[in-house]
Amino acid sequence: MANQKPIILRGRTLTFHAAPNGPEDITAFSYEEDGALLLSDGKIKVRGPFAEVQSGAPDGTEIVDHRPHLLLPGFIDTHIHFPQAQVIASWADQLLDWLNDYTFPAELRFADKAHADRIANGFYDALIAHGTTTAVAYCSSHPNSVDAYFEEAERRGMMMLGGKTMMDRNAPEALCDTAQGSYDDSKALLAKWHERGRARYVITPRFAITSTPEQLDAAGSLLRENPDCHLQTHINENHNEIAFTRELYPDAAHYLGVYESFDLLGSKTLLGHCIHMTGHELQVMRETGAVAVFCPTSNLFLGSGLFDKSGIESAGIRTAIATDVGGGTNYSMLRTLDEGYKILQLQRQRMHPLTSFYWATLGNAKALSLSDRIGTLDAGSDADVVVLNAGATQTMALRMETVETLSEELFLLQTLGDDRAVVETYVAGNRQKSVRLKP
Ligand code: GUN
Ligand code: ZN
Repeated sequence: MANQKPIILRGRTLTFHAAPNGPEDITAFSYEEDGALLLSDGKIKVRGPFAEVQSGAPDGTEIVDHRPHLLLPGFIDTHIHFPQAQVIASWADQLLDWLNDYTFPAELRFADKAHADRIANGFYDALIAHGTTTAVAYCSSHPNSVDAYFEEAERRGMMMLGGKTMMDRNAPEALCDTAQGSYDDSKALLAKWHERGRARYVITPRFAITSTPEQLDAAGSLLRENPDCHLQTHINENHNEIAFTRELYPDAAHYLGVYESFDLLGSKTLLGHCIHMTGHELQVMRETGAVAVFCPTSNLFLGSGLFDKSGIESAGIRTAIATDVGGGTNYSMLRTLDEGYKILQLQRQRMHPLTSFYWATLGNAKALSLSDRIGTLDAGSDADVVVLNAGATQTMALRMETVETLSEELFLLQTLGDDRAVVETYVAGNRQKSVRLKP
């Protein structure tokens, strides 16, 4: 899928080098007013002022002029559910009812490969439309769904992470696997997909409620046998979920203790939600390097609670931000940042727009230990780029008339933007949005 012919993208380039240390921290990012990227063979070869990039490029290199728009690294979504593309926007009660009433029935349909293929196509179109170039997904418990997920990613040349959901109890029988079966299937899928092209396999026990101790033990074995794979699960999202987990695992000191006791925690462990954390759990998170994944639209939609970013980060814990579609209500990382901002506002933790855009790009790449490949526009990175227009709608254009600084523009994009603000999405140097999607 790598593009062979070099291409120059011209526009206002913005890329981060570190987490901004406050609104004035200009060392945290590079911004070029008349900037450009030279893309070739799926990589960013050069980033710099347009004149310099052009003069160093091979004669006749095509130039795509995106001025006056912003060029950023493609967005990274660190927690999403591929089989929930038809669950999003379901009128439900809180987490456990929502799972039983809508989510499990929808996931059952992924036993059918043709269904999984069709949904995969729409799912990837949605990601691209919203400027997301990498995501970490739960597939269903059916190996078919993992094949559908990675086959479509491969066709599009996208760096995608994901895995078969392991679940052997407290769900419809046809959705349940067994401890041994889930181990065998995950192992085979991992062997097939992990590091095939840009794909990365993620060991995926859904959460403690839907796994027997034997299955969590199997997940721990998979992680020990494949330490360069990620592992994802859910934790401390909802009070009823926590109470049920404590009943199922009465010997654990706390919810995280369940995962700790099966060796599931390490620097590649992604823990969705982390809302109702105890002090001891925070300590274990810090010691193991596990990542707390904030899912704002989902946490509001399911009435789950308020993620304490400042408390978690000041405890020395790594964080990421994600949509969690279909508990989450939008594929857009812009909408996600906006709702995240409001959740933090409720706790008097006002997030600066530089921090927001760092989080959705380099911050999430670091949380995935993939910042050498994605999340930046630095030379050597994969050529995944999003082009954003802060005046995409009438409301945005009107407000844009009074915007004076980059930070104000970013905040406008975050507060009012969605897929309409995404002009183009490049994956491995190839234009995706305008060639695949009807306007
Ligand atoms: N906990 C276990 N499964 C799920 C899921 O599919 N979505 C959310 N939001 N939480 C979960
Ligand atoms: Zn989830």
